Amino acid sequence: MCGIVGYIGNRKTEEILLDGLKELEYRGYDSAGIALLDNEKIDVFKALGKLKNLKEKVNTYHDYNIGIGHTRWATHGKPTELNAHPHLGEYSYVVHNGIIENYKEIKESLQEQGHKFVSQTDTEVIVHLFESFNNESNDAKEAFQRTIEKLEGAFSILLISKCDPSKIFFFKHGSPLIVARGNEEGEVLFASSDAPLIGLANDVVYLEDGVGGVASATSIEFFSDNYSWSTLPTSKQYAQKDGFRFFMEKEIYEQHDVVTDAMLGRLGENEITFDEFDASIIEGIEEIKICACGTSYHAGLTASYLFERLSQTRCSVEIASEFRYKEPLLSDKTLFIVISQSGETADTLEALKMATKAGLKSIALCNVDNSSMTRVANHTVLTRAGIEKGVASTKAFSTQTVVLWMMALYFGQYKQVLSNEKINDELHALREVPKSLIVDDKIHEKTKRLSKRYLHGHGFFFIGRDVFFPLALEGALKLKEISYLHAEGYPAGEMKHGPIALADPELFTIALMPQNLLYDKIKSNVEELSARDSTICSISPLDFELSDDFIKTQKTNHYMLEFFEMLVALQLLSMEISVRLGNDVDMPRNLAKSVTVE
Ligand code: F6R
Repeated sequence: MCGIVGYIGNRKTEEILLDGLKELEYRGYDSAGIALLDNEKIDVFKALGKLKNLKEKVNTYHDYNIGIGHTRWATHGKPTELNAHPHLGEYSYVVHNGIIENYKEIKESLQEQGHKFVSQTDTEVIVHLFESFNNESNDAKEAFQRTIEKLEGAFSILLISKCDPSKIFFFKHGSPLIVARGNEEGEVLFASSDAPLIGLANDVVYLEDGVGGVASATSIEFFSDNYSWSTLPTSKQYAQKDGFRFFMEKEIYEQHDVVTDAMLGRLGENEITFDEFDASIIEGIEEIKICACGTSYHAGLTASYLFERLSQTRCSVEIASEFRYKEPLLSDKTLFIVISQSGETADTLEALKMATKAGLKSIALCNVDNSSMTRVANHTVLTRAGIEKGVASTKAFSTQTVVLWMMALYFGQYKQVLSNEKINDELHALREVPKSLIVDDKIHEKTKRLSKRYLHGHGFFFIGRDVFFPLALEGALKLKEISYLHAEGYPAGEMKHGPIALADPELFTIALMPQNLLYDKIKSNVEELSARDSTICSISPLDFELSDDFIKTQKTNHYMLEFFEMLVALQLLSMEISVRLGNDVDMPRNLAKSVTVE
């Protein structure tokens, strides 16, 4: 949520910053801005909306050697140019990712001292606070440190100032920030994630919370010893669209490959193994608790059925933002698993910190290596989905689900609660998963045709039972976030307890009807809806005469294979509806890829 970049060096500063922001744009695209500094002057450029608007504005005829940039997902204050970062005091600029929780009281006290504020943001207090301290002591480093001490909340900050024009001050608390030594002499770079740095730098520090410092072309000074240098991966895996219309489409088509990667070295001939943790971690554990947000939460809900079924361990799943404040009773007989594509989601990260502080064993299932969660959890398991750029998560979900399924089986093996035959059946099904994720051209064509029919109406219900209930939730979320149509995921058996009152021809029901799990039960539920005139689109390998529309999936012998095939159909359907509505598929309104504020 929000992305920040910084640069000190002799290359074209504005180009480095704009290229870096391009890599971070998925984190927020309400506005973008850069501030450029040399010994003589500060220039700033800001634009509303996507980065291309900023690029059109930036025309410099000056050799700057320091700059900071920001791409915004609005938290405090509407997306306007005045609220866009960098924020200015009298002679300093700041970019910030996070939320300053005590900004109101700081702002009031600064206003009493005569400081004038022009934006509605929380961020603007940082730069005024800094200048107020600097005016007192005329010592920029001390002023920056005093500023940090006053701030509460989550904040990764880069600050430049004419009072010390050869330096960038930096600090990380809560939101991610990386410092890098550039490949050229006298270069220092900053970014919210690896992507903008790849190709420009090799040595990086992934800043820990509470660590800050000040950098110039010749030195990087850290305010504490709590940092270490590591090497940035050199394989520049910039996700390109490879001929697809959208990153989302490319990522849907990639699922077959990335799921194969996710299983490599883990799915053996006769058993599951994980190098990252030993199955004996389950010893003495009475419950697995999963915590996550959004799509990752849906993967967790799916896994709860698999953990209970395959490892005979009680499993509960919590939405991280709810978990944090419910004063949960935590027992050290609980294994705590967080699931997160980014590894940075603020609520999930805080939940993980709470659990580890309470002494629970923890596993982070993440896609982004070196992300904050991987550094807090006792064990990290990577999903290996590769960079996911579409804001609507697709391949992250399929890899999460397959890894969780393998974990459930891993524990089941260890606890010896499964027969050899059952283990073999599960292993066999797992080997078939990549095939079930190959996009079937006929299904893709069908979703394109169906998309025309589903642009009106008063809403969608996605219904399913068992693991197909979380899949229904995921289908509804995909549709909501990129088509802006109202959709709900619901357990099929619950419809008659209220929502069926909504049924009429303008209510579209997307029914997940697997052959291998509770087919007769879901069939009855769909019949009830059809009898009340709801328009039914069923997804199933079995013909269903009451369907108004039908997406036919393959016959298989395992419900999880049906799960993955239906997942692809749901992803395609939501994407095609979004295309038909003319929406921005990869960057839907109001959203950001990485939600680093609570
Ligand atoms: C939906 C989506 C979000 C994320 C959620 C958690 O398509 O992408 O719902 O799943 O914000 O993000 P991570 O997995 O990065 O913790």
